[in-house]
Amino acid sequence: MDIDSRSFRKALGCFATGVTVVAAKDEQNVPFGVTISSFASVSLDPPLVLFCLGLDATSVESFRKASHFSVNVLRHDQRELSIRFASRMADKWSGVDHHLGETSGAPVLSHCLAVLECKMEKQYVEGDHVLLIGRVLHLDYDPGGQPLLYFRGNYADIA
Ligand SMILES: Cc1cc2nc3c(=O)[nH]c(=O)nc-3n(C[C@H](O)[C@H](O)[C@H](O)COP(=O)(O)O)c2cc1C
Repeated sequence: MDIDSRSFRKALGCFATGVTVVAAKDEQNVPFGVTISSFASVSLDPPLVLFCLGLDATSVESFRKASHFSVNVLRHDQRELSIRFASRMADKWSGVDHHLGETSGAPVLSHCLAVLECKMEKQYVEGDHVLLIGRVLHLDYDPGGQPLLYFRGNYADIA
């Protein structure tokens, strides 16, 4: 069966996901970050997670050099952050409330549903994406909050 890219995207869009912003800082301590839905758990022991980044992303070389990154799981009311970090605007961080994580040094967005601070563990280029695997060093989460969801190309709430 020939897989045309439009049908492939539509089929993948049937898989509802949460939305994260994955962030790190470069050698000059300048933060960068990207909206990512391809986040997944890999292993419980050791605690490993992954995300997939397109090789055409502006930030791909910076991510490949980063020693640490944070995964910021967005709340239902953080849609604007998702749109901002999915854009190629020059200063995505302007006015964005964040701090540097104590464990990883990676930028951490405020008020997220969960944050995982990770050390870069392994990278694999497959097709037009790179899989970046991180070992979780520190985590924080809100046990009661509601997530932002992404389904068929649109944002959604659980309700
Ligand atoms: C909800 C949502 C999920 C996304 N998930 C991914 C993803 O998993 N991997 C990816 O490479 N791009 C993903 N993107 C697209 C990137 O956020 C977008 O290409 C961004 O411009 C990349 O930033 P950069 O060019 O500054 O590196 C997603 C976009 C949205 C809106």
